[in-house]
Amino acid sequence: MKIALGSDHAGLPLKNEIIKHLEAKGVEIKDFGAYTEESCDYPEFALKVAEEVAGKKYELGILVCGTGIGISIAANKVPGVRAALCGDTFSAHACREHNDANILALGQRVVGSGLALDIVDTFIKTEFEGGRHQRRIDGISEIEKKYSK
Ligand code: RB5
Repeated sequence: MKIALGSDHAGLPLKNEIIKHLEAKGVEIKDFGAYTEESCDYPEFALKVAEEVAGKKYELGILVCGTGIGISIAANKVPGVRAALCGDTFSAHACREHNDANILALGQRVVGSGLALDIVDTFIKTEFEGGRHQRRIDGISEIEKKYSK
């Protein structure tokens, strides 16, 4: 599994912890920035990771900003991306199983790193269930098609 990661300055420390955690498990990752805690704008890094995931170069993405809100809103503008902001493991499980979420968003100022790493582990090990949920994902794609002109 290949995972693309990105953050703004406010999410950088948590992103770095996640990278260490994933590398220790032998997961192949690429960090698309930011690389310093100098103030920057989250849409830039949301776009980089979202394009990699939508283009199927990476199976999953993980994005971190202060709240996880801005970076998930931005990532969800890229067709084919289903970014889920999670603050608990139940949502991390459900967003993969039911929504086939392909990007996990986290808020460094919201979740502690212990919980964040559990959320990451749950997100990457849970499979999409398909079935009735596929029909709903197809419905999301129809909305994208309606507005992508
Ligand atoms: C940066 O201060 C902060 O606004 C950003 O990381 C994020 O929380 C936005 O949604």
